[in-house]
Amino acid sequence: MSASDGRGAEGREGLNRPRQASASDGRGAEGRESLDRPREPGTPDGGGAGRRDAPAAPGRPGAIEPVIKAVDLAVAFNGRTIFKDVTFEVRRGEIFVILGGSGCGKSTLLKALIGLVPLAAGHAWLLGEELAAADDAARRALLRRIGVMWQSGALFGSMTLAENVELPLEEHTDLPRPAREVLARAKLGLVGLGDAAARLPAEISGGMAKRAGIARAMALDPPLLFLDEPSAGLDPITSAGLDKLIRDIARETGTTFVVVTHELQSILAIGDRCIMLDKQAQGMIAEGDPRKLREESTHPTVRAFFRREAA
Ligand SMILES: Nc1ncnc2c1ncn2[C@@H]1O[C@H](COP(=O)(O)OP(=O)(O)O)[C@@H](O)[C@H]1O
Ligand SMILES: [Mg+2]
Repeated sequence: MSASDGRGAEGREGLNRPRQASASDGRGAEGRESLDRPREPGTPDGGGAGRRDAPAAPGRPGAIEPVIKAVDLAVAFNGRTIFKDVTFEVRRGEIFVILGGSGCGKSTLLKALIGLVPLAAGHAWLLGEELAAADDAARRALLRRIGVMWQSGALFGSMTLAENVELPLEEHTDLPRPAREVLARAKLGLVGLGDAAARLPAEISGGMAKRAGIARAMALDPPLLFLDEPSAGLDPITSAGLDKLIRDIARETGTTFVVVTHELQSILAIGDRCIMLDKQAQGMIAEGDPRKLREESTHPTVRAFFRREAA
């Protein structure tokens, strides 16, 4: 792992170094944008997240411990670096967006965070626990507390929506069937599919399938939910509906969301904070409040993305 000083070729700045007490204003003089809105997540402690001591949030004594803390993450496939020096925190109750163009490593970053792809460097703590350092039992317990909806996360076609949502309950709990059914219907109700529980995936629209996927990811009431491109392939109106659903769930349940997307409208609609990955830079080129990035970023690629300009 390189003992990088946190400034890559792009002049990145504003990383929360573990050893530095400089999370402060986070505003780099140039290059990497870090327009961070100091914001309390505004959700009650759901009691689920972060029971254990997380690594201290540097420079912010008394701050709520992060739900995710990623420090200097790097992933390489066959010697090819996908990203490096990726450092960020996700706060409890917020909707955190990972954005960037196709192929820049967004899905890979998600997979690295939950241990499906090995880290070439760095450390990641989820809900206060470092997955890579956890034993099997702790690892399983941790993963049970995280919901994921993958980009390709299809529902099982031969099962009703209710049965799809029951699946994680069947796998991870000893609940009897009637209890599972009640919980599954409640989750489907939460995503607006209360009347569609008995339908098969082939009988519903793409937007409904995404909602059902979210219901399934929430089956075990995870305090942390990852969504990989939830609105991909949806029309703008359905996509806006899904954004609203994600916002409502975040506000009403206190669930922390990490949402991968490259859709500007979604990012601006739901993102409390974001990081932007870039293929050329092999890492982060921006972090902070997406609306501020849009207004204030001077990084050519970041500006181009947020203002829909040619880079
Ligand atoms: N398992 C893998 N083995 C080798 N290369 C991979 C693997 N997974 C992803 N990649 C490569 O890593 C890069 C980032 O992929 P990905 O994370 O899927 O991008 P994004 O989600 O941002 O579109 C791509 O070039 C992709 O081909
Ligand atoms: Mg992807």
